[in-house]
Amino acid sequence: MNPFPDDIFTEPEDVDPDTLANLGPLRRLAGTWEGRKGVDLNPKAEGPEQREYIERIAFQPIDPQANGPQLFYGLRYHIHILATDEDATFHDQVGYWLWEPATGLVLQTLAIPRGQVAIAAGHAAPDANTLVVSAARGQTEYGICSTTFLEYAFRTDSYRLEVSFNADGSWSYVSDTTLMVRGRTEPFLHRDSNTLVRIAEPTPNPLMLLARE
Ligand code: HEM
Repeated sequence: MNPFPDDIFTEPEDVDPDTLANLGPLRRLAGTWEGRKGVDLNPKAEGPEQREYIERIAFQPIDPQANGPQLFYGLRYHIHILATDEDATFHDQVGYWLWEPATGLVLQTLAIPRGQVAIAAGHAAPDANTLVVSAARGQTEYGICSTTFLEYAFRTDSYRLEVSFNADGSWSYVSDTTLMVRGRTEPFLHRDSNTLVRIAEPTPNPLMLLARE
C-alpha cells in the first residue's frame, strides 16, 4: 500500500522559508568545498586506470519545493574535477540533493555532460553521520538513464554513493558505479573517493534573503 494522501493537490501551508534551518542531514553539506586527494578508477581499453584528482563542490540552498503535499528542502550542487596531471575537465556533474522532513527521504539527482542522468534515493535521520543513496538501471522511480551509445558500450547498471561526515567538519564519499563494458564478461566497478574541506559558507536561499529585507 502506498503512503500517499488522497489529496494530491494541496500544498503545505506555513512553510518555513529558511532552507538552511530545515535541511536535516544535508545541512552539513551546505557551502563550498575542496578536496585534493581524490582517487578514480575508470575503465580504459587496456584495463582499469587509476587517477588522482582535485575536486571543488558548491552546494547552495534552494527555496522549499512542493509536489502537492510532498515538501522538500534542498541544495543545488555543482561538482568540478580536474585530474592532478591535466588541465581539461576530468569530471563535471550538477544536480540537487533533496530532503523530505516528513519521511526522512533523501534524494540525489545527478546529470553528467556525457548524456547520463540518475535519481538516487535513500533514507536518513536528521542527525545522521552517514548518507547512502542508490539508483538502478531499469527502475522508473530511482533509476539511471543514458544515451544509446552508453547503453551499448558502457551500460550503467547501478550507482551507490556513501557520504560520511567527519568529526573535524570535513566529509568523505565513496561513489560506486557498476558498468557493463562491451566485450567484457564481468561488471566493472568505477569507484571514486575523496575527502572535502569547507572553503566558503553557503548563501541563504532566495526566499530567505527576501524575508530578511
Ligand atoms: C568523482 C566522480 C567521477 C570521476 C572523477 C569520473 C571519471 C571518469 C573517467 C576519467 C572516465 C573515463 C573517460 C574516458 O575514458 O574517456 C569515466 C568513465 C565513465 N564514468 Fe565516470 N567519473 C565519476 C563519476 C561517475 C558517476 C557518478 C557516473 C554515473 C553514475 C559515471 C559514469 C561513467 C560512465 C558510464 C563511464 C564510461 C563511459 C565513458 O568512458 O565515457 N562516472 N569516468
